[in-house]
Amino acid sequence: MAAESLTIIDNRTGKKYDIPVEHGTINAMDLRQIKTSDGDFGMMSYDPAFTNTASCKSKITFIDGDKGILNYRGYPIEQLAEKSTFLETAYLILYGELPTGEQMDEFVFQITHHTMIHENIKKFMDGFHHDAHPMGILAGTVGALSTFYPDAKNIMDPASRQTQIIRLIAKMPTLAAYAYRHSRGLPYTYPDNSLSFSGNFLNMLFRMTEPAYYPHPVLEKAMDVLFILHADHEQNCSANAMRSVGSSHVNPFSAVAAAIAALYGPLHGGANEAVLRMLKEIGSKDKVADHIKKVKAGEGRLMGFGHRIYKNYDPRAKVIRGLAEEVFEVTGKNPLLDIAVELERIALQDEYFMKRKLYPNVDFYTGLIYEAMKFPVDMFPVLFAIPRTAGWVAQWEEMLLDREQKIARPRQIYLGSPRREYIPMDNRPSSPPVKH
Ligand code: CMC
Repeated sequence: MAAESLTIIDNRTGKKYDIPVEHGTINAMDLRQIKTSDGDFGMMSYDPAFTNTASCKSKITFIDGDKGILNYRGYPIEQLAEKSTFLETAYLILYGELPTGEQMDEFVFQITHHTMIHENIKKFMDGFHHDAHPMGILAGTVGALSTFYPDAKNIMDPASRQTQIIRLIAKMPTLAAYAYRHSRGLPYTYPDNSLSFSGNFLNMLFRMTEPAYYPHPVLEKAMDVLFILHADHEQNCSANAMRSVGSSHVNPFSAVAAAIAALYGPLHGGANEAVLRMLKEIGSKDKVADHIKKVKAGEGRLMGFGHRIYKNYDPRAKVIRGLAEEVFEVTGKNPLLDIAVELERIALQDEYFMKRKLYPNVDFYTGLIYEAMKFPVDMFPVLFAIPRTAGWVAQWEEMLLDREQKIARPRQIYLGSPRREYIPMDNRPSSPPVKH
């Protein structure tokens, strides 16, 4: 019996199985040999929502949820937030190492020169209703980009893959800014190559009639740090959507559209929007205790709290709290901050939250910063999608190059009706059968 193995005794048959253990994990397919008879399909594991199933081996992002650790390619998020830039972090996530000066210059050049989008996308954008949610617009227009780049279907060609990766990271801020300008009835602003990635994004959003736009350095830096913090987060719902849809070998623009749809939901990237709406609904500090009572009574969740992986303070939330102070020095304090701080204070000493290890997550304070920077609430998840594109494409490429991966196709436990014969309408009972 190998030391690195698990012995399973099937009490139904008395048979014993030695299952190899690698990286503290058993391979679910090794369970299939466990059968009660020759005709038996074999044992499967049941794991709705993948709470205890590794779907891949990855070298990109490490999280220790109990200790509150998040590293990209081994580098702690706190160090990257303090010392790196979003594009350098995107490079690191994509290629595994920090770039040399030359590599960095080339990467920045490539991204900067792929920010334009085809003029027809503007017409496409104009077709959306004036109050269309920008996340819906983003998903639609990214999906549409696949029709402008038919070469993107060559996913096994490394050069083509590289081109699509650059296009996706570079064009996402442009699409996002256009979606915003559309909702405001403002003319679209073209990218300015003299600005940084984050500075140019602010330019495309907020430039009015001035001949050149100069972003406030503190706000530009804050935007960049927020982008770093959101760049990847291993196998979350949208990364899983990206990998799963990408595993069908569809082009990456279509897979990113699916990832954006996953991120849109209020339990994922839509949470920052939900936090702000919640803080506004609470209205004042003295109503916080009442709100917590309602949450504990099962009337909704405390948005921006809790995480599938973090059972400790989300390390991103810590950086963002500090960042909020810097931003508020420029923009003035967001009055909702007092409500948020009070909510955190009460929740962190409440038994309900302590027992369930519910701490503020990344979305708890981001909304306050975004609002202070004059972003409308429905742009918040879009601000998450822009940097996360770097993570999505890195996860996608890792999946494609992983020889152990195939088209994603989970199993099910079928509990429906056994085979039965079709009944013609005239022979069916007049009242419908009771549903199980
Ligand atoms: N408020 C109140 N109770 C909560 C909350 C919350 N925010 N989150 C979890 N719980 C309770 C939940 O009711 C359950 O209690 P019980 O055991 O009595 O049934 C227990 O905690 C465990 O919850 P769960 O639903 O099994 O946990 P999960 O890992 O499936 O859910 C989550 C994780 C993030 C979806 C959830 O915590 C949540 O809905 N939070 C609010 C939404 C939010 O802030 N989402 C942003 C996540 S971070 C950004 C990202 O990466 O997408």
